[in-house]
Amino acid sequence: MGGNKLVIMGSFVVDLAMKSPALPRRGETIFGGPLTVGPGGKGSNQCIAAKRAGADVCFLTKLGRDQFAEVALKTYIDEGISCTHVYQDETHETGSALIMVENGTGENAIVVSSGACTCITPDEVASLKPEMTEAGVFLTQFETNMDAVWQVLRMAKEMGLKTIVNPAPVQQVDHAIYQLIDIITPNETEAEVLTGVAIRNEADAAAAAEIFISRGVQLALITLGEKGVFFHTSQDSKLIPGFTVEMVVDTTGAGDAFNGGFATAIAEGMTLEEAVIFGNAVGALSVTKNGTAPAMPTREEIDRFLRRYRVIPVS
Ligand code: RIB
Repeated sequence: MGGNKLVIMGSFVVDLAMKSPALPRRGETIFGGPLTVGPGGKGSNQCIAAKRAGADVCFLTKLGRDQFAEVALKTYIDEGISCTHVYQDETHETGSALIMVENGTGENAIVVSSGACTCITPDEVASLKPEMTEAGVFLTQFETNMDAVWQVLRMAKEMGLKTIVNPAPVQQVDHAIYQLIDIITPNETEAEVLTGVAIRNEADAAAAAEIFISRGVQLALITLGEKGVFFHTSQDSKLIPGFTVEMVVDTTGAGDAFNGGFATAIAEGMTLEEAVIFGNAVGALSVTKNGTAPAMPTREEIDRFLRRYRVIPVS
């Protein structure tokens, strides 16, 4: 284990996004625009957030062989992310997502088709093994095929990495998976689906978080949007407040920004609480810009932001 190396497995999809005065109601057609087309996917967004925040990232994803795949490859070249574990499928298309964003609030609704990144093979997962020998932290989500998620978590756990799982898009999973997860980072909706506890206040968040702990997770971080993150271990339970920004432009990808930032901070050796604050700063900065991956802040922006709030001693 060494340095600040972080291994991530997850989705890449192309985001087709449009802003409108309100999110349409069922059966309604409304005006909006313009259409923007850019890199997205929860895994890839988290990878870009981590890379810009200063992590030494190794990323595994899967694309098709089409124009959308070119968006991914160009993004990784521009960001300085290695394509060694960016695989391409001959038959499935690169994933895509339709995103609607409400002007004013920045709130969103998304439909995603994961495409080729639901075809990650056992051999592709196994190719991460040498990378994991050099890393201390592993991060994944639920936007790729779940058999690959199980395999990669077993491998990371066996190799002694700290495993972080952002269970999004949320889906029911066998509870045995929690034995493979050190830190889980659902938002309130995802926490409710996974635990059955509707989260309306801090007591509900603590009850949901305690269910994750009883299933084998060491730390549950329930993200609560601008309110911050509910932090819960067997020893400690508290709300770590988020940051307020002057103008929220687009909240899409804010959870990804938090996860990428948090994992980077853990890989750097920050305490759990410092890492949450760092992740909150990355999330807050991401909502001040349009888009997902393109909205991720640089380390310089994050450090400047934290210095302004004087919450973590930064260089
Ligand atoms: O978390 C935001 C992401 O979810 C978007 O980039 C979209 O691609 C979906 O995967």
